Amino acid sequence: MIAIGSDHGGYDLKESIKKYFNEKGIEYKDFGTFSNESVDYPDFALKVAEAVAGGECDRGILLCGTGVGISIAANKVPGIRAAHVSDVFSARYSKEHNNANVLCMGGRVVGPGLAIMIVDEWLNAKFQGGRHQKRLDKITDIEKKYSK
Ligand code: RB5
Repeated sequence: MIAIGSDHGGYDLKESIKKYFNEKGIEYKDFGTFSNESVDYPDFALKVAEAVAGGECDRGILLCGTGVGISIAANKVPGIRAAHVSDVFSARYSKEHNNANVLCMGGRVVGPGLAIMIVDEWLNAKFQGGRHQKRLDKITDIEKKYSK
């Protein structure tokens, strides 16, 4: 199950990705927002990040205007590795090397055609483990160092 969420800046792109998921029979849970009305991106980052970190969903997709704010917010939740991506190459390696469990894009940056290629690449990529796991463990150590 994929968690998906956005603010108003990412709303149209969220709807395009959902349409693609509906056509492909890919299961998702939509955490909002549900219109173009102005909202605050951290609220939706938190919903999706908690769904992924808590195990309700396997991974998440977050969209805001640039993809920047919503990725910063999602990465504050322990266990979240949110990758802000605008190209297919980074999408693949964000999974293969970084085991990104949340994919972030900018609805005012990436068009729906490219966004769907990015989503496909990320969904089909496999984490390679090995030396990359050691690096992720170091990221977890940073999280632990600063958690209260
Ligand atoms: C909202 O106007 C905009 O700031 C937001 O969508 C996002 O781009 C923040 O990083």
